[in-house]
Amino acid sequence: MPRYLILFATLTALLCGINLAYSQGDMLVLSPEAFTAKRRPPARFPHDAHNEKAKIDDCGVCHHGGENGKRDPNVTSEGTPCADCHQVSAAPGRTPLLRAYHVQCMGCHMEKKAGPVTCGQCHETAAATETK
Ligand code: HEC
Ligand code: HEC
Ligand code: HEC
Ligand code: HEC
Repeated sequence: MPRYLILFATLTALLCGINLAYSQGDMLVLSPEAFTAKRRPPARFPHDAHNEKAKIDDCGVCHHGGENGKRDPNVTSEGTPCADCHQVSAAPGRTPLLRAYHVQCMGCHMEKKAGPVTCGQCHETAAATETK
């Protein structure tokens, strides 16, 4: 491939990436590529509608920041996939990806006594999600 074509392809990919990062309004389910062998249907999470219904204004409640094993309350991470900081198989003392999602989602649902806490309520089949 000529050089300018490679450059063009790279730019296009970059632009699409940026575009995706700001289209959370369209997000309906979570299905991170980090989980290679899926055992469940993707978890339902209509991002904007969820946060409106749940009355969560502070993005940092979910998009926290931190590095080197320490959370930093002064930094948030909107748009950064959880998988960028949480490995599927994490080092001892770090929160692995599956646990990160489950603890954050179910933790709040249990605390607020609102929102799903059983497997099938989040891991719905596509057909069930479409009728919502
Ligand atoms: C209840 C938790 C929660 C709240 C509150 C929340 N988000 Fe998110 N957001 C998520 C999750 C989970 C993802 C998917 C992360 C991943 O891919 O691992 C996400 C993804 C995103 C993405 C990437 C979208 C994409 O299509 O990849 C952006 C941008 C984003 N959020 C911005 C925001 C902003 C801005 C706010 C505050 C107005 C906010 N979020 C509030 C949970 C939340
Ligand atoms: C910029 C890096 C970063 C991102 C992005 C990030 N985290 Fe974390 N998270 C951390 C660090 C650092 C810790 C503390 C060390 C640990 O437990 O691995 C942590 C801890 C946690 C914990 C442990 C309990 C707690 O609250 O301290 C949960 C649960 C969690 N994260 C869920 C998530 C979810 C869900 C997402 C995506 C919406 C996410 N994290 C995105 C850095 C991040
Ligand atoms: C900080 C609190 C909080 C966090 C974090 C949170 N939720 Fe919720 N969620 C709620 C509340 C509150 C409700 C109930 C809203 C209502 O119906 O009044 C809810 C409702 C839901 C519903 C049902 C909504 C509907 O439209 O039927 C789903 C599905 C859901 N949450 C998925 C998730 C997933 C997946 C995550 C993690 C990525 C998550 N939630 C993280 C607070 C939270
Ligand atoms: C509050 C919503 C919620 C509930 C309840 C929930 N999960 Fe999840 N789960 C998630 C989210 C979000 C992810 C990450 C997105 C994905 O992979 O679907 C996830 C990921 C997973 C994964 C890794 C991805 C895969 O398909 O292999 C497994 C396995 C899983 N969950 C099993 C369960 C089981 C078993 C239960 C019941 C004990 C359960 N979950 C309950 C939200 C939930």
